[in-house]
Amino acid sequence: MSENVFTKAVHAGEAHVRSDYGVVDSIQSSSAFTFADTAALLAMLNGEHARDEYARYGSPNLRSVELKLAALEASESAIIFSSGMSALALLFLTVLRPGDQLLYFDSCYHRTRQFCSEYLRAFGIRCTAIGTNDFEALAEACDDRTRLIFAELPTNPHLTVIDLDRLVALAKAKGIQTCIDSTLAGPTNIQPILSGVDYVVHSATKYLGGHNDLLAGVLCGSEADLLPVRNLNGILGAIPSPHTAHMLQRGLKTLPLRLAQQNKSGLAIAQFLALHPRVQKVYYPGLETHPTYNLARKHLKGFGGLISFELKGDAQETGRFIDALKIPRIGPSLGGVESLVEQPYLMSFYKTDPEVRKSLGIADSLVRLAVGIEDTDDLIADLTQAFRQLEN
Ligand SMILES: Cc1ncc(COP(=O)(O)O)c(C=O)c1O
Repeated sequence: MSENVFTKAVHAGEAHVRSDYGVVDSIQSSSAFTFADTAALLAMLNGEHARDEYARYGSPNLRSVELKLAALEASESAIIFSSGMSALALLFLTVLRPGDQLLYFDSCYHRTRQFCSEYLRAFGIRCTAIGTNDFEALAEACDDRTRLIFAELPTNPHLTVIDLDRLVALAKAKGIQTCIDSTLAGPTNIQPILSGVDYVVHSATKYLGGHNDLLAGVLCGSEADLLPVRNLNGILGAIPSPHTAHMLQRGLKTLPLRLAQQNKSGLAIAQFLALHPRVQKVYYPGLETHPTYNLARKHLKGFGGLISFELKGDAQETGRFIDALKIPRIGPSLGGVESLVEQPYLMSFYKTDPEVRKSLGIADSLVRLAVGIEDTDDLIADLTQAFRQLEN
């Protein structure tokens, strides 16, 4: 298999030997798989060949998309889940026991934070939030029951890039495993496994699926590390349907093309916003003004299609600006071909205590723009006309 990402995205994981000679995998909707005779069942049970007999343990469409995802992430193995959150939850529940500690950088997806602070804590797991990139505090917090350090790269929604080399060095020195959620970067922009990270997780709902039409997650890592997670999910069955796996397989083939366009538009739009008089502040890792620009240059091949920015104005004016946009529609996701826009203060934090919201850096006038694959100039023209409407 070629090492080229465009070739891997199209061909990795697909045997290209089909009984029906189709170019693509058929969708195998069976929930159970049969055996020709008892000898064939015994051969499988004795490990003479790998296969699944019941769809909760895996099935052909899921297996081939796992192989493609592992190839794209440069990992030995991958497991596909019904959502990004189930990938994270199953990993945490596998590696953490009561009394163990999970350390995580506090700037992360709010549901991840909620799962740690509300649910894992209820199981007696110590979940400690550390200021993002505060390595002194991180080192200080490590103890002999610390099992895992978790961070997003880049973070949601401020696009902070963590110092990955420092994180891995610290964790390895202390014998602690690491997990990176690189949903907001996508595997063609970074492969954290190559930097020594143990686990990589993605909400495949975002760039990987890429069409705003499926929900899935993936966990990548070594065969040995993933086996206990696979076994737990064999019991729980947090898996997508074969149809969803097939759609993900199709989406992945155009991932490098889509992400190249999103990288290009993301940078151009961030530069446009940074110069606009109605914009207070832009958070985009590819802008020199971003506090972690140097880390972004070091770790990312492209900076992605997600841009957060604060308008000069209040929540109502920000809403008027969003309503005036014609191409991006109001929605909570990112990474798809269709541009989406949201005001995080409303979409994710409407009922959150204002003090907590402030401490998380969620300004009332913060806008999160998830750039799709529409023409870059069309998107900039749309933003321009929406800004003009604020003057009326
Ligand atoms: C960074 C990040 N990780 C994980 C998730 C959860 O993924 P899913 O919605 O597929 O469960 C999200 C969802 O928005 C996310 O933004």
